[in-house]
Amino acid sequence: MRNLFASCLCLVALNAPAAPFQDLLRQYETQARQENPAFSGFSPERGKRFYEEKRVASSGRQSGCFDCHSPDPAQSGKTHANKIIDPMAVSANPKRFTDLQKTEKWFRRNCADLIGRACTAQEKGDFIEFLAHYK
Ligand code: HEC
Repeated sequence: MRNLFASCLCLVALNAPAAPFQDLLRQYETQARQENPAFSGFSPERGKRFYEEKRVASSGRQSGCFDCHSPDPAQSGKTHANKIIDPMAVSANPKRFTDLQKTEKWFRRNCADLIGRACTAQEKGDFIEFLAHYK
């Protein structure tokens, strides 16, 4: 009986769901492998550089991810219309990267506006990897 109980606990532990952002990362990883057979993982350092890079938005305005999302992603950001944006760092906002449709919608919009093309799965994964581990 005791053994049965112990093995049940073990099964529960094995089946414990990973943090939701990890689900998203796994999907981007599958995509990144398809886009690039030499894919060798996501990098929080590359994600950080991507987040901090200065770009020119489609409006002509100097911008970057940090511009609306705050240079410190554990803090709230602001749109250009002064609407508060909740923090991007998962440590400060556990709801981040838990809904693929939402995440994709905003990557689509912000990448088009700031980079003039869709972001690659590599860029998206690096970005999430950076924000998932930011303290
Ligand atoms: C002009 C302002 C602005 C800029 C610049 C901007 N964003 Fe955003 N972003 C928003 C807004 C507004 C939201 C939606 C509000 C929210 O999620 O709290 C958002 C949400 C997101 C989300 C959704 C996150 C989630 O919860 O899943 C992602 C991903 C994202 N942005 C990526 C980027 C990237 C990558 C860049 C830089 C290339 C960038 N954003 C630059 C305004 C901006």
